[in-house]
Amino acid sequence: MNAHAKHTADATTVEESLAIQQANAAFDSKAATDLAMQNTLLTPRFYTTDFDEMDAINVEPVRKDWDKLIGQMKADPNKGHFKKNADWDQIDWEGMDPALKAEFLDFLVSSCTAEFSGCVLYKEMKRRGNNKDICELFALMSRDEARHAGFINDALREAGVAVNLGFLTREKKYTYFRPKFIYYATYLSEKIGYARYITIYRHLEANPEQRFHPIFKWFKEWCNDEFSHGEAFALLMRTDPKLTQSFTNKLWIRFFLTAVYSTMWVRDHARPEFHKALGVDIDWYDQEVFRKTSTIARQVFPLELDIDHPRWLPNLRRMNDAFLAMDRAKKRGGLGGLLGRAAAGTKAAMAFVALYTIPVVKNEVPAQVRLEPSY
Ligand SMILES: [Fe+2]
Ligand SMILES: [Fe+2]
Repeated sequence: MNAHAKHTADATTVEESLAIQQANAAFDSKAATDLAMQNTLLTPRFYTTDFDEMDAINVEPVRKDWDKLIGQMKADPNKGHFKKNADWDQIDWEGMDPALKAEFLDFLVSSCTAEFSGCVLYKEMKRRGNNKDICELFALMSRDEARHAGFINDALREAGVAVNLGFLTREKKYTYFRPKFIYYATYLSEKIGYARYITIYRHLEANPEQRFHPIFKWFKEWCNDEFSHGEAFALLMRTDPKLTQSFTNKLWIRFFLTAVYSTMWVRDHARPEFHKALGVDIDWYDQEVFRKTSTIARQVFPLELDIDHPRWLPNLRRMNDAFLAMDRAKKRGGLGGLLGRAAAGTKAAMAFVALYTIPVVKNEVPAQVRLEPSY
């Protein structure tokens, strides 16, 4: 196959998509790949899990909804969508305000890494599994994520930086998560992905003059893919009531909600220029994304965080201040820097505990799991 002749948007399998991306990798940049290689609390990680345990899932309890969802994904409504067309406006990267350019590139690299993280995990599950249902689902999801990552990389390449995804697959550290943690974390990240993309899309639909890059025009179909992926994890969790109903697992769900939401808050607040250019108030945007995500998550989680509680926003701000202080201490170095980091770490941990202990809102999960995108 001549990989250059085909685009990742048209690839129907993850293997084909990755082969095309590998053929482009000669042009990819070290700086962007280095950024994607970072493993901090705030950068997207790569995950591995107990694939045998996941392979053993029996989807019979949710068979009807399962077949319908797989049918929708197989129909592949977004085939061919994720590539530049006449709607793609040329961007003057050289003329862009340097602070905005830096934050936007950081946003693209981090989004590309996150998409690719899903791709790698899903592809590995598909490769290792024997369970027809599971393998089929993970093949479809890795197909989508490979396209998403490929498309962001196209945008990056125009700016002269792109992530070498083949290198990343081989060299980036993989973090082990038990399957149930994969369900909670991945379900949340898919649904948050949906909520983030659709909120930006709707905002720019109403304020097109603030769309400073064409990639945002693709966010609607994009978020529908993420929505389906989230639906799949909701169904997987519904196959075993213990996963969401036992006392311990409720505490874990609460933990993941708090960790994922507060990480998003800190990450977004690190990009003031990017959000200013979009005309988006970060506090509003994050609360809006939390609200949409929490509403959707009622389909499967027996509880939701009280994001209107008086302790919520102040402790998110405290957490953000702690991360800023940690950054400053890192730059300072030496003994002072070390002590500063320890102090900031304690502050962040206290803020996290304050958030985690906010009383949650209980939720009775509905008999009917499946949802359709509605924002
Ligand atoms: Fe994706
Ligand atoms: Fe996804």
